[in-house]
Parts: sequence; C-alpha cells; structure tokens
Amino acid sequence: MALIGVFDSGVGGLSILDEALRQLPQHDYIYLADSANAPYGEKSSNWITARSLALCKYLASKGCHAIVIACNTATAEAIAQIRAELSIPIIGVEPGIKPAAMQSQNGIVGVLATEATLKSDKFNALLATLPDHCRFIKQSGAGLVPLIEAGKADSEETLDLLSKHLEPILDAGSDTLVLGCTHYPFLRKSIRKLLGDTITLIDTSDAVVRQLKRQLEVLDHRSDSGECGSVLLISSKDEASLLAMAKDLLSNDLNLHSTHSAFLGDVS
Ligand code: DGL
Repeated sequence: MALIGVFDSGVGGLSILDEALRQLPQHDYIYLADSANAPYGEKSSNWITARSLALCKYLASKGCHAIVIACNTATAEAIAQIRAELSIPIIGVEPGIKPAAMQSQNGIVGVLATEATLKSDKFNALLATLPDHCRFIKQSGAGLVPLIEAGKADSEETLDLLSKHLEPILDAGSDTLVLGCTHYPFLRKSIRKLLGDTITLIDTSDAVVRQLKRQLEVLDHRSDSGECGSVLLISSKDEASLLAMAKDLLSNDLNLHSTHSAFLGDVS
C-alpha cells in the first residue's frame, strides 16, 4: 500500500480526497489543509509557489510515495518547481476546459476559478491549445472560498454571491460550467438551486484520481487488499474543525478508515 499526500489551501481538496477514497480506499492518506492561509487565489504568484513547495516538501518528509496537489491555484503556480525539487510523482489539478469543450453543445463554456488560476501562464497555455470555435467565459469566484471554509456552502450569503458570479456566464448562454477550483464541487447544491439542471457541470476529480492510480501502478503500489487504509487530516488552522468538515463534506464514510487529525506546526 502507498502513503499519499493530498494538499490544498483548505477544505477544497477534500473533493479530490473523496474521489480517491472511493477509487483507492486501501491506501493511506495524509490530507493537508493550509486553511490558516486560504484563500490562495488572491495571493501573489511567488507566495503561492514558495508555500506550496514548502508544504509538499513537508509531505514528502512524512514518507508520502506520491502527492496530489488538490488545488488548481497551487498547481498553476507551483507544480513545475515542485516536480523539479521532489523525486516522487506529483499529480496536479487543472480546470477541465478540455472535457468541457468536448461536451458543450453550443460551444459556450463558463469557467469559474480563482483570480490566480485564470491569470496564470499555465491556464492560458492550456486555453491556447483548444479549438477556436469554443468560447470561454472566465469568471473569478472571489469570496467563495472563505464562505466554503466557514462551512457556509449552502447559505443564502453564498447563493447571493454565486448568483452574481454566474450572471455573466449565464448571460453569454453557456451550456457548460467548469468548476475550476476544488472548493467549488461543494457548491453543487447551490449551483443547482440557481441554475436547475440546464447546465453541465465539469469537475476533474475522477480524472485526477485515475492519473494517481496509474502513477501508483508504475510504482507497483497496487490496491488489492480488502481493508480500508488510514486518513490523517492536518490543518494549519484548526484540526478539529477540519475533521468535522471532512465528516460533513465527504460522501465516503470516514468511520471505515482509521482517522486522525493533527495541527500543522511551522513549516517553511
Ligand atoms: N482549492 C483551491 C483551488 O482549487 C482554492 C484556491 C484558494 O484558496 O483560493 O484553486
């Protein structure tokens, strides 16, 4: 079995951990939430790169065989440097604009992501590879991450802010919406409340976990034992509330795993 590190600015990457526990329950996981510093999306590129690198080095020092950067923002800004400095597989997350372009019927696709992701060279390079016939309506989801971090994903306040952010996407006639931040899958209920079933939602957690699985197979870490592995939840802010949020947000039953939480001390 492998030990897998999953890292995000906060609770968003739990959407990836959830999928990983579904597809690869036998492995052991360390989930690292840098909630004391969320949101990353409004921070400078240098800061995001340095912090993400430090946290991935920390996970590698704990013995992780692979790390999932379960954050679009950290992937966009830092994955190249993290891969250059660590010798274990590093799997990143990118907004699913490619599958969205393939699935959209009318070629109009909304992309909801952080400011930093939308501005990043990596995202814009990916965008440039896609066919011209597709139009992408890019919208920053400013303010949404703090609400989700505060456990308010389904609140009226979130609905109000979300409806403002979705307005340009809807006005343009988008039939597909890319959830380009790992926190946003936790807004599905609110998005459906506002938009009904008329829009296709794209998130990439399934593809990310399939990529993780391929990498583990290359390392010969297969997942064929019947037992569920352990989950260690580490927070830079409040480990008890991370555990409570994980129990609330994950569709997997955490009781099937041996689960612990811990506080992240200074990492630099
Ligand atoms: N979950 C991160 C992402 O996917 C959130 C970014 C933030 O902290 O602003 O981009």
